This record gives sequence, structure tokens and C-alpha cells, in this order.
Amino acid sequence: MTASVFFRQFLRSPRSIGAVMPSSPALARAMLAPIDFPSARAIVEFGPGTGAFTREIVTRLAPGCRYLGIELNHRFVHELTRAFPRLDFVQGSVADLGEILAEQRIGAVDAIVCGLPWATLPVSLQDTVFSAMRTALRPQAVFVTFGYLQSLVLPGAQALRRRLRREFAHVTQTSPIWGNVPPAFAYICRTSG
Ligand SMILES: C[S@@+](CC[C@H](N)C(=O)[O-])C[C@H]1O[C@@H](n2cnc3c(N)ncnc32)[C@H](O)[C@@H]1O
Repeated sequence: MTASVFFRQFLRSPRSIGAVMPSSPALARAMLAPIDFPSARAIVEFGPGTGAFTREIVTRLAPGCRYLGIELNHRFVHELTRAFPRLDFVQGSVADLGEILAEQRIGAVDAIVCGLPWATLPVSLQDTVFSAMRTALRPQAVFVTFGYLQSLVLPGAQALRRRLRREFAHVTQTSPIWGNVPPAFAYICRTSG
């Protein structure tokens, strides 16, 4: 899948796509480094887009580990399904996370890799997603998400950081990934237990 597919979808839905180009392989590696792939039994990706993180996840998935990508954009889901035939994708919103996991018979999740554009997501949707994650993530699970350096000063980014610290037992931040456009960093969040 090309960056032009991504950019065209951005032009159609700038708020829900939230970026003009896909994340870089360097950001993908930083996002995935904290995940214990050999022992994980279920990994969920929020907003896989054109597969910037999926491409790296698929090379690390252990046999028997479930992967589920939840993506709002129809075109992306179509392309993802073609590009990664071994993986499962649902076209839908993470607002329905609880129902989607139940339908897919995924009980406890070891890791969530999140590519959502937090800054543009309504607070009510964020509330719903965090509440569903509290139920879905098993003890010592990991949640990884990213932010852009340029946005750190914005109120939405600061609210997200406060929220992550409230929701998770341990939250750390990677050093900046300068090779990403724009430069970004990952939040690594762990549940207690
Ligand atoms: C910033 S892009 C990231 C794409 C990809 N993960 C990457 O890093 O290149 C955000 C993605 O989240 C998806 N998205 C936005 N809102 C969503 C929602 N409520 N549920 C599921 N996916 C959503 C968009 O369609 C888009 O693919």
C-alpha cells in the first residue's frame, strides 16, 4: 500500500485519519519493542491505517497468537485484508471495542498497539475506549500509543498524558523518533499485576 492511498484518505477524512502520511518503520520498531511477542496470545491494533505497524507486527507474531486490527476506514480495511491475509481485521470503531472483542471471542488482551489520532477524538469516545480497555487488558499487559513532538504543548496532548498516568500503573515515554515525519515518540503503558 502506498503513501498516496493514505494521503488521499486524509484529504477525504482529515479528522479521523489525523496524519498526512503513515508512520515510519523506526516509530513502528519503538512501538513494538516493549511487547513480549513469544508469550502474547492476543494482540489488538487500533487504527492500523495502511499497515505501518501491522507490517512489523506480522513478522513477530508467534504461531497461535490472535491478531485483530480495528479500523474505521473501509478503503484501508480492504487493502489491509489483501496485504495481510493471515490477519483479522474488523471495519468499525474502537468505540465498540467491548462488543467487537466479544464477537471475535477475544477474552483477555496482552497488548494493544494504538495508531489513533487522539487529538481529534471526542472525549466521550476516549472515555468509552479507556473503559473497555480496562476490562480487556490482562494484568501486566502493555498499551502503546504515539504522539507528535510538535503537539506536546497542546491541551489535548497534555490531557492524554494525564489520562494515561491515571489509567495505567506504569507509563514511560521513548526518546524522540526524529526520522518519523513529523518527529514522534511512543508512550509505553503497563497495567499492574
Ligand atoms: C494517524 S492514522 C495512523 C495509521 C497507522 N497506524 C500509522 O501509524 O501509519 C489513524 C488511523 O486511525 C483510524 N481511526 C480513526 N478513528 C478511528 C476509530 N474510532 N476506530 C478505529 N480506527 C480509527 C483512521 O482511519 C486511521 O487509519
